[in-house]
Amino acid sequence: MKLLVVGANGTLGTAVVHEMKDTAEIIQASRKNSPIKVDITSTDSIRSMFEEVGKIDALVCTAGAAHFGAIEELTPELNSIAVNSKLLGQVHLVLLGLPYILDKGSITLTTGILMDDPILKGTSSSMANGGVRAFVKSAAIEFPRGIRINSVSPNMLEESKEKYGSSFEGYEPVPAKRAALAFRKSILGAQTGQSYTVY
Ligand SMILES: NC(=O)c1ccc[n+]([C@@H]2O[C@H](COP(=O)([O-])OP(=O)(O)OC[C@H]3O[C@@H](n4cnc5c(N)ncnc54)[C@H](OP(=O)(O)O)[C@@H]3O)[C@@H](O)[C@H]2O)c1
Repeated sequence: MKLLVVGANGTLGTAVVHEMKDTAEIIQASRKNSPIKVDITSTDSIRSMFEEVGKIDALVCTAGAAHFGAIEELTPELNSIAVNSKLLGQVHLVLLGLPYILDKGSITLTTGILMDDPILKGTSSSMANGGVRAFVKSAAIEFPRGIRINSVSPNMLEESKEKYGSSFEGYEPVPAKRAALAFRKSILGAQTGQSYTVY
């Protein structure tokens, strides 16, 4: 099985690569520190990546940025970071990547707990998460050739506690390894249109 992981060198992506490395031939992609270079905010870059990589069985995206800031300071420009990266970046990966996914293949995107359990300053990220979840649910019912699509919504990861912990008081962090299992379920299972919560 050929698995393309976009965002492969990040905290979550590294765990997905580790979880899948004995099952799949993994192609790792991101902007800087991966063998295959892609910027998901650029449709040209996404097109070039798929031309370079060719046909794959599974696509995972664990990349996607968002601005964290108070709603009164959230300008359209700052909000567009999440729109262009976490939301449209992932949506464009699907739209441009679909022809490259082999029959009965799968796509798995990343959302996050904030869309259901919000924190202060997290509105832009929550917006992108909800958009991705809705896109996945809807796209699943008309995907061709037995191709499936799901998203994974992790709680704050244990590995990210130092970075984000002060914004997530009272949240119980989950190990990235546990979040990676939800990606495994999506890639190797039979379900489609699902949002797997890892809380
Ligand atoms: N960490 C958490 O606690 C947590 C919890 C819930 C949800 N999430 C979600 O999970 C996703 C990953 O989080 P993370 O903590 O693993 O982030 P991270 O450690 O910062 O990793 C992000 C990864 O994405 C790549 N990337 C970033 N922007 C990109 C772009 N425009 N095009 C292509 N690749 C890009 C980065 O590599 P390059 O710099 O080389 O591009 C890196 O591989 C995010 O959507 C985040 O919201 C995270």
